[in-house]
Amino acid sequence: MTLTERLGEYIRACFTGIWIESHEHQDALVALAHLCQQETWKFATWDIEQGLRVSAATLEHSGNDPLAAIRAVNSLATADGTAILVLQNFHRFLGSAEIVQALSQQVIAGKQNRTILVILAPVVQLPLELEKMFVVLEHELPDRTQLEEIARGIATEETELPSGSALDTVLDAAAGLTRLEAENAFSLSLVRHGRITSEAVWELKSGMLKKSGMLELHRGQDDFSRLGGLSSLKSFCRRALLQPSRGNAFKRPRGVLLLSPPGCGKSQFCKSLGQEVGRPVLMLDVGSLMGSLVGQSEERTRQALRIIGAMAPCVAMIDEVEKAFAGVNGNGDSGVTSRMFGTFLSWLNDHTSDVFVVCTANDVSKLPPEFGRSERFDGIFFLDLPTREEKDAIWNIYLHQFEIDRDQRMPDDKDWTGAEIKACCRLSALLDVPLIQAAQNVVPVAVTAAESVSKLRTWASGRCLSAQQPGIYQSSETKPGSRRKVSRDSSLN
Ligand SMILES: Nc1ncnc2c1ncn2[C@@H]1O[C@H](COP(=O)(O)OP(=O)(O)OP(=O)(O)O)[C@@H](O)[C@H]1O
Ligand SMILES: [Mg+2]
Repeated sequence: MTLTERLGEYIRACFTGIWIESHEHQDALVALAHLCQQETWKFATWDIEQGLRVSAATLEHSGNDPLAAIRAVNSLATADGTAILVLQNFHRFLGSAEIVQALSQQVIAGKQNRTILVILAPVVQLPLELEKMFVVLEHELPDRTQLEEIARGIATEETELPSGSALDTVLDAAAGLTRLEAENAFSLSLVRHGRITSEAVWELKSGMLKKSGMLELHRGQDDFSRLGGLSSLKSFCRRALLQPSRGNAFKRPRGVLLLSPPGCGKSQFCKSLGQEVGRPVLMLDVGSLMGSLVGQSEERTRQALRIIGAMAPCVAMIDEVEKAFAGVNGNGDSGVTSRMFGTFLSWLNDHTSDVFVVCTANDVSKLPPEFGRSERFDGIFFLDLPTREEKDAIWNIYLHQFEIDRDQRMPDDKDWTGAEIKACCRLSALLDVPLIQAAQNVVPVAVTAAESVSKLRTWASGRCLSAQQPGIYQSSETKPGSRRKVSRDSSLN
């Protein structure tokens, strides 16, 4: 249902307080004015700068007093019709007790004379007194048809607009942009390339996402060939994402939770997954969702999830999720984190968009247990330290990448992760020393954090799928925390 349709229903049902959350007031106003014209409802707007305006003409007695604006709605009332007053950016005035009081009285009085107050604002910030009096509607981001309309409006010549699959790529690229942003992106593309292309749109879009400070767009060139090992995880995700079942929302893949000691390639996996299956990767920075004002964090969480939804089909990566939502069980921040986490969890459960969520974690003990419930993810994978063959594959990748002479003695890589192999190769190339010498500067995580690695393995054993071979992960450690056993086992590698 579009904004206009939902709004039409609420107004007909005489909801006298309506809050529309929108970043594009002009478009929302046009849609509203159009609806009112169709239904022959009286329509007026107010903003601090222009005061009250009824059907484009400024009323003589109007001023920029917000209190007077609320009361002015009564002067619009007619004997048998409905009148709508849109108050723009009125969230700015809700700090005043008089205004809150006037609004609440007007919402009740409106039921009698069918006058309806619509607050149009980029955020939802309802004071407690008004919470139950207003319904909240979201002005949704433009869909593909609307984006295509915008593109057609901007391209003046046939040749400026691509057709067929090229048009699809452009529309894919523009998904998640507001109308204005899409317009700007298309125009820039025209100026730069003489036609609308997806490259310019992507470029602008990465910038915009960065500006929002919550999401970052990753578009790298690396696919699975740049990632050694992890064969089971790779084939699971490839199969889940490339199957042709898009029509059926039930069959849609949801995502995976990846668990491993640091440096085993979780983040790298997410990034290369996008390239492998041809989807953009959006990285959500949960720390940045935290706002300083009450209610802001949840608002930002919802906003980020909305952008992610609008970017579908995509891969959404939430890195180090246990750090992001640390404190969910504690009571340090008056429940803000728990509420954000709640918003996020219900989204994980309920979202119907084609978003494949990849969450990564190093420490499950910090995650609330409800997180890993099975219907939230298609699989929970454990990435153990790489096996002998996997390490060989990783060496191969980096010896090639750093152009290192293969004709030399290889260092002892017992208990190394992919990150350590890469670091060793980089050092060797950088300092122009043999690998053996570079290896002296590498201290494996399995040594520096032996206890936590061992704890993680024990936890994952029998609970997680193995990323490295088909089936459930079984730790070779029998006794939790036994370090001697770890080293003996891995020396078998
Ligand atoms: N299997 C692998 N194949 C190729 N490169 C790897 C592999 N594992 C790790 N690396 C490299 O090691 C570096 C660190 O990996 P990455 O950041 O993906 O680890 P991580 O599991 O996300 O670690 P953390 O838990 O600290 O976030 C990356 O540059 C990555 O390319
Ligand atoms: Mg990582």
